[in-house]
Amino acid sequence: MSQPWSPESWRSKPIQQQPDYPDAAHLARVENTLAGYPPLVFAGEARELRRQFAEVTQGRAFLLQGGDCAESFAEFSAAKIRDTFKVLLQMAIVMTFAAGCPVVKVGRMAGQFAKPRSSGEETQGGVTLPAYRGDIVNGIEFDSRSRVPDPERLVQAYNQSTATLNLLRAFAQGGFADVHQVHQWNLDFIANSALAEKYQQLAGRLDEALAFMRACGLDGVPQLREASFFTAHEALLLNYEQAFVRRDSLTGDWYDCSAHMLWIGDRTRQPDGAHVEFLRGVGNPIGVKIGPSTQPDELLRLIDILNPENDPGRLNLIVRMGAGKVEQHLPRLIRAITEEGRLVLWSSDPMHGNTIKAGAYKTRDFASVLQEVREFFAVHRAEGSYPGGIHIEMTGQNVTECIGGCRPVTADSLSDRYHTHCDPRLNADQSLELAFMIAESLKGLG
Ligand code: PEP
Ligand code: CO
Repeated sequence: MSQPWSPESWRSKPIQQQPDYPDAAHLARVENTLAGYPPLVFAGEARELRRQFAEVTQGRAFLLQGGDCAESFAEFSAAKIRDTFKVLLQMAIVMTFAAGCPVVKVGRMAGQFAKPRSSGEETQGGVTLPAYRGDIVNGIEFDSRSRVPDPERLVQAYNQSTATLNLLRAFAQGGFADVHQVHQWNLDFIANSALAEKYQQLAGRLDEALAFMRACGLDGVPQLREASFFTAHEALLLNYEQAFVRRDSLTGDWYDCSAHMLWIGDRTRQPDGAHVEFLRGVGNPIGVKIGPSTQPDELLRLIDILNPENDPGRLNLIVRMGAGKVEQHLPRLIRAITEEGRLVLWSSDPMHGNTIKAGAYKTRDFASVLQEVREFFAVHRAEGSYPGGIHIEMTGQNVTECIGGCRPVTADSLSDRYHTHCDPRLNADQSLELAFMIAESLKGLG
């Protein structure tokens, strides 16, 4: 590393997208408290995820990353965590079994609270207030008290994250995620759709394969009884992230122990900025969102800073161009990186470039989501590079937030179950449909 790094070296860099806390001393007290609390993950787990990322980068696995746009204090329950976990596992089963490809599973969960905003303020009916920046910062209600950033919210976000991660670990390792249970995972509301039939067929074939393995005496392998599951969020609120930077006792390296993986958003990826400074010094696998404005030289500079050792498990570039724009913007980035011999994990976020308005609602057309993923696969195929993953906003709940899908949500039905605290998410049906489409594309690569 050229310049010395410390957990607080980001503080002397220009920083975007931060709340304006009225009481700095109160914030400092809370940061101190959090720094004394136990970490959520430990360094060995982050290193294991790096090892798995390296497998993906080298074309031997696929990365599935998904969850809420923003977790919220109000929508916090075992059922919600369980249903999102189930759909992610169902998607992974579809891809693993249909495409014969191991899937690395990472939830946008247990810490995904802070949100960047296109404007720092929001105006309603002639009243202007600070924008909502996620429950870790302020309240979503449009009144002046709710919108004041409150440091105590950092503690609540930490508590909710620990409880969420605790349940996720129990689900992943306590028998719930046993592949033999696959038939019982069907969510009630997909029971009658055409998609459910497709899924049942696949599950039937999987049963046969498992019966065969049992007959051969191979069904005791732990990989069938447990799932490995990791967590990730956008490292946006650096006061929170810094509190979880701990030195690994085995290697002496620094890790951000608030999640296994952290990413930098499209609005905060300035090479000289605070977010890049912070993440360059921690040993976790990290992501960077790449939007249509990204230039090849700027991207290479970012890679120099974030992955100077060219480690194949370190850096995930999350491409979010928008449907119809991938062919225009992605090839030049892939070429620059390939020519320079840089190793990165390429994944597609088909959500953030496809947000539209339908009346009062922010939504996304599921057809655009599918199209962007197809374009992502097509460009990589043409360039001879590996389309390594998908990054989506989804939920296991039967929401009506994105229009389209095989049991279509229409613009008129958006209001039925529109619950998101920020961006519109795919529901379980739409997520599974996407998984089948990706499985087909992955098969085509083989
Ligand atoms: C997000 O992932 O919720 C997000 C804000 O993405 P981006 O930085 O790509 O806009
Ligand atoms: Co979002």
